[in-house]
Amino acid sequence: MSPTRPARLYAPVPSCGRSELWERLREIHGAVAPVELEPGVPAWLLLGYHENLSVLQNPHLFSRDTRQWREVTDGRVDLSDSRPTLSWRPNALYADGPEHTRLRAPVADALVRVDLTATSRTVRRIADDLVDAFVATGRADLIGEFAAPLPVLVLNHLYGLPDSYGHMLGDLTAVLFGADARRGEDAVARVHQYFAGLVSRKRVRPGPDLVSWMMAHPSRLSDHELAHAAALINNASHQPTAHLIGNTLRTLLTDGRVRTAHADARLSVQDLLDHVMWTDTPFQVLPARIALQDVRIGDCDIRGGDALLIGFEAAHQDPAVRAAGGGRAHLMFGAGPHACPARNLARTIAATAVTAVHERLGGLSLAVPPRELRLRPSPFLRGLVELPVAFTPGEPVQPAADPDRPRAAEHTDLLSRLLSRWRRSA
Ligand code: HEM
Repeated sequence: MSPTRPARLYAPVPSCGRSELWERLREIHGAVAPVELEPGVPAWLLLGYHENLSVLQNPHLFSRDTRQWREVTDGRVDLSDSRPTLSWRPNALYADGPEHTRLRAPVADALVRVDLTATSRTVRRIADDLVDAFVATGRADLIGEFAAPLPVLVLNHLYGLPDSYGHMLGDLTAVLFGADARRGEDAVARVHQYFAGLVSRKRVRPGPDLVSWMMAHPSRLSDHELAHAAALINNASHQPTAHLIGNTLRTLLTDGRVRTAHADARLSVQDLLDHVMWTDTPFQVLPARIALQDVRIGDCDIRGGDALLIGFEAAHQDPAVRAAGGGRAHLMFGAGPHACPARNLARTIAATAVTAVHERLGGLSLAVPPRELRLRPSPFLRGLVELPVAFTPGEPVQPAADPDRPRAAEHTDLLSRLLSRWRRSA
């Protein structure tokens, strides 16, 4: 890597990850390094733990509103592309100040109402269903057949919908985050229809679910805003939760000390998750904050309008915090006004899922050498494409799956029509 050329975050990710890249960038540039998100699209990557924390905690200096990015205001990047380098949507994630408070309050207050004990039982039921589908074969891909579908099925349950809808949403979400841009565009439109349909259904028939609770919130979001809020919950939760589960399973399968400590109950499942969030972060980099004025960070002069990327993985490898030890001070759930409003829910989902695999799959081992495990080609997320495993074949524990068809009366709205179309094309 040339010291004068910005590091290319769009380059293929080596199977061992990018730790070495972060280390070299830190040696050359210190706490902040110039990078390219795409050829000719510049950004700053924050490598230091304290620099990352400070940017997250200072929203008056660093905005979440990507429309203020100089690449956008100068017309070089179009945020309305279905899959731009950085995106913008009318939801809490991209808002600042009072607008952020207005859009976040219904989301955060609805998430607080989720009963974690009951949800843990639901997660276990869903995990058991997923395991039942492959347990007799003695082999599985724990990403494609378990970690990826599970979070969206749980979320769908929290939206008050049966699993059949969750499978459709999971398929759409997988295409959304997949590599095929043409199918991705179609998935963006369908995901939007899904959430618009969900909101109009809940207007007619509210229930004890996330969308109905957001609808009843004193913030009085419009239906358009509610659809975006419901989509945000899905999009913000799906990939990090799936990769937290996947990375934790990978750690258990490849790190004998961790596996033994967990098996001997010296490392609880919650401590195991924290260990993985320090060492095998589900996000390597989080997009983005936009500097609102000229500011100096480390040895770099940042100009107003520049984009700053939160370097989770690099921050966790910062020698300044490595020496201080671990615990829960990792940045994985963010910090400041945008900090994840669902960290306890995310922990519950991941812990229950990992425990289900541990309890259900005896003799679990990797089915390929560890060096053959490939990371997803993303500048932001950090998780495996596949996790092929072998185990002692077992018996399903759940009664044969209910066909789970929606009631006849539900076959008339947009959401049900989408489901019928999805079933025909599946
Ligand atoms: C391991 C799982 C998860 C991780 C690591 C994670 C991490 C994060 C992080 C870092 C942010 C801050 C983004 C920023 O500052 O720009 C965030 C925001 C958010 N997360 Fe999570 N999250 C997880 C799971 C979930 C789940 C399960 C949900 C919902 C069910 C959720 C809902 C949200 C929402 C709505 C926001 C936006 C908050 C705002 O902008 O005000 N997350 N999450």
